[in-house]
Amino acid sequence: MKAVILVGGQGTRLRPLTNEIPKPMLPMANIPFFEHTLRLLKSYGITDIILSSGYLGDHFRDYFKDGSHLGVKLTHVIEDEPLGTCGAVKNVEGLFGKDTVAVLNGDILSSVNFEHLLLFHKERGAKVTLTLYSVEDPTAYGLVPLNGDGRVTEFVEKPSFDQVTTHWINAGIYLIEPEVLKYAPKGQNYSFERGLFPALLDKNIPIYGFPYSGYWKDIGSPQNYLKAHHDILEGRVTFDYHGQEVKPRVYIADGCNISDKANLFGPSIVGKNCSIDDNAFVFSCTTIGNNVKIAKSAKIYDSIIFDDVEIGENCIIKSSILARGVRLGDEVHIDNLSVLGDEVKVGHRNYLAKGIKLSPQSIIKEDQIRF
Ligand code: GDD
Ligand code: MG
Repeated sequence: MKAVILVGGQGTRLRPLTNEIPKPMLPMANIPFFEHTLRLLKSYGITDIILSSGYLGDHFRDYFKDGSHLGVKLTHVIEDEPLGTCGAVKNVEGLFGKDTVAVLNGDILSSVNFEHLLLFHKERGAKVTLTLYSVEDPTAYGLVPLNGDGRVTEFVEKPSFDQVTTHWINAGIYLIEPEVLKYAPKGQNYSFERGLFPALLDKNIPIYGFPYSGYWKDIGSPQNYLKAHHDILEGRVTFDYHGQEVKPRVYIADGCNISDKANLFGPSIVGKNCSIDDNAFVFSCTTIGNNVKIAKSAKIYDSIIFDDVEIGENCIIKSSILARGVRLGDEVHIDNLSVLGDEVKVGHRNYLAKGIKLSPQSIIKEDQIRF
């Protein structure tokens, strides 16, 4: 079975992190998130993979090249204009044979079993099988009501509260028979969710839902991106760590210089060549990237720190995300799902909270912000 992974979206909800890096290339436990998806497919013997990108598409090609180092064969197709989720697949249909194709949204962390999914699809004689996941609030997703036989009866993308009749949502992982693409227009922006799926249902073409109850998360918002890190660190989803487990669930990569007087609590990860000074605390559920410097008595709780960040003395960082090359002076306090873009500089004694988002390269002078 071949797979197409859709990675052409702009990742708007993750700005400013996605201003210069496409969402699936963001680090996840210190490796590009997309690598996890490739490893998952490979573990089911799916190695012929088409990557449909657009926004900052070169990043995928430059980093993953032909995929051979991961044991897969990647074909990169970069759209000049976004073609939408279905348009993107239509655009590469010439690369399919007649066999079933797996289509994946590129921002999903999951452990979906593709063997079970394929078996289910074949047994039902489905033309499309949608993996379904049950969530409390389906309004941010595609709602997928089923009949008693497991056939999809309707598809409501981003339903309003009064349209919510089920908790099953589209998990963004499909199997399709390539023949259904004849109902999709060529060269136009067209979506599965608002276009092809409703059109197939109108034609009574069988779409089935495959209920999935393992780990699943769309990483496309700061909350979910942070939560996905927690879940990886807490072991709720399998993931390959780089680094040595120096004490229970504290992983430290090579070349670090960590003071004997620093305190690290698991689960946490520290990347390569980091330094952590006396009396600094790295509390649980924290991921520190490569080449990060953490000065004396700084405290980091439940946060994601990208590569090349410098954190001054006595800083406090809680439940926040600092992108590549951020520099913090001393006594800076960052809290409450704040997100600092690449190379932001914050002078001494600023207090940034309430989910503040700072664009890349912003500069905040000393003593400027206090919420
Ligand atoms: N190649 C290409 N071209 N890819 C695209 C395009 C495009 O024009 N537009 C979006 N994508 C990719 C995105 O990069 C992402 O990986 C995937 O398609 C889904 O887009 P999102 O923008 O993340 O959509 P969503 O999260 O709001 O909703 C989708 O996913 C939900 C599950 O997380 C829908 O499929 C929902 O129905 C679903 O419930
Ligand atoms: Mg998404």
